[in-house]
Amino acid sequence: MAKRAIYPGTFDPLTNGHIDIIARACHLFDEVVVAILVNPGKQPLFTVEERIEILHAVLTPQFPQVRLATFQGLLVEFARAQQADAIIRGVRSVKDYDYELPMVLMNRRLHPQLETVLLVAAEENSFVSSSLMKEVFSLGGSIDGLVPELVIQRMQEKRSQKSS
Ligand code: PNS
Repeated sequence: MAKRAIYPGTFDPLTNGHIDIIARACHLFDEVVVAILVNPGKQPLFTVEERIEILHAVLTPQFPQVRLATFQGLLVEFARAQQADAIIRGVRSVKDYDYELPMVLMNRRLHPQLETVLLVAAEENSFVSSSLMKEVFSLGGSIDGLVPELVIQRMQEKRSQKSS
């Protein structure tokens, strides 16, 4: 039976850290559903539609097993509807592990058959986060090599839209 995993996140924006975790997940699972959380309470840099467009352009050519989706509400309910076997989360540090562990245990309590697989990020991405990328870019610093080229282009477009 084909094994399906969900890789959930905000992806605002997609980073090379996310791509590294997706590549690792694709080695382990037949299908990886990259699932963007639609969170009406948050003010994102990119709309959900913009994030889907970026993820589609960057991920589809590289990873045939990847499918894109959006979800709202409880992750375990989305995973149930998708008949997923596992949730994938990337871990860069002990701090990430501390953040992930309560979610792993809560999700297990809500859906005991669903495993969470924590994948350790590549060393070169261990400091890369979407929020740090946004902060450095907004202050004029370079994030070249840390996010896909397309993300930088889209961030530049956002900046020029704002200033015009
Ligand atoms: O990339 P992020 O922002 O760290 O992703 C966090 C995410 C989407 C995995 C988490 O916020 C989540 O699962 N949200 C869905 C709501 C939910 O199920 N909450 C209970 C988790 S135990």
